[in-house]
Amino acid sequence: MEITERIGQDIGATVVGFEYATASQADIDAIKETVYNKKIAVLRDQHLTPRQLLELAQRFGRPETYYEPMYKHPEVEEVFVSSNVPEDGKQIGVPKTGKFWHADYQFMPDPFGLTFIHPQVVPEKNRGTYFIDMGKAYERLSDDLKKEAGGTFSRHSVRKYFKIRPSDVYRPISEIIEEVDTKTPPVVKPTTFTHPMTGETVLYISEGFTIGIEDEHGKPLETDLLHRLLDATGQLDDTFSHPNIHLQTFEKGDLLLWDNRSLVHRARHTTTPEPAVSFRVTVHDERKLYDETATA
Ligand SMILES: [Fe+2]
Repeated sequence: MEITERIGQDIGATVVGFEYATASQADIDAIKETVYNKKIAVLRDQHLTPRQLLELAQRFGRPETYYEPMYKHPEVEEVFVSSNVPEDGKQIGVPKTGKFWHADYQFMPDPFGLTFIHPQVVPEKNRGTYFIDMGKAYERLSDDLKKEAGGTFSRHSVRKYFKIRPSDVYRPISEIIEEVDTKTPPVVKPTTFTHPMTGETVLYISEGFTIGIEDEHGKPLETDLLHRLLDATGQLDDTFSHPNIHLQTFEKGDLLLWDNRSLVHRARHTTTPEPAVSFRVTVHDERKLYDETATA
């Protein structure tokens, strides 16, 4: 197995010669280390079944099964399926997922540290996923913005991007919103925290899930701090040319593994729909999202 890291500040690393069936603990540890330091690792030449993908992910941590059943792979429920390609005329998983900036499970009380994506059907033209490293983005903020964000808390909710299920047809929208707020009430987390694996400060907000910033007493700020932070980090840039934005492309056979504490990501927008299918597994590593006794 050989790991090649991109140099300097660039995020990303490539892993070649990784053998799923014979990988040693040292191999797993080395990849994990790379993911925390370089944020994304692309394991080349992996052709894993849903079951094998789950088994591999389990060597990195404890899997989290997605809470909404419609995303689940029919045979391996821990595998989340994003697909716009029906199988035998039947929709498997959910199409058009994640076309907004977010960290996975950011709206949940206990988000996981690692996300695996194994693309199955790769678009011809607009392939790839956009990423922003919110640790580096924090570093690049002005001192004034850092100071303003420090000690505040952010509120996250799935409300804006909850996907209507087939079973919701003909239901009143107010009833669905109420159900979403009851099942997944907004969660409050420090706006910045110390990454438990690297010690860096992460600005933990996203355009998709963060609905407000408040002080330590839960009082919403009367400023537009959230907007200014999203703008400064590149999450409001419709052209995707902000220097913080990294486009990660992939080929069939790639397995992407990324640091879900540091990165926000967004599926690439396509004007012409192309077939795309990917499997996702997410795992909790040894630590919580952040150490609750030591917020930044
Ligand atoms: Fe995602």
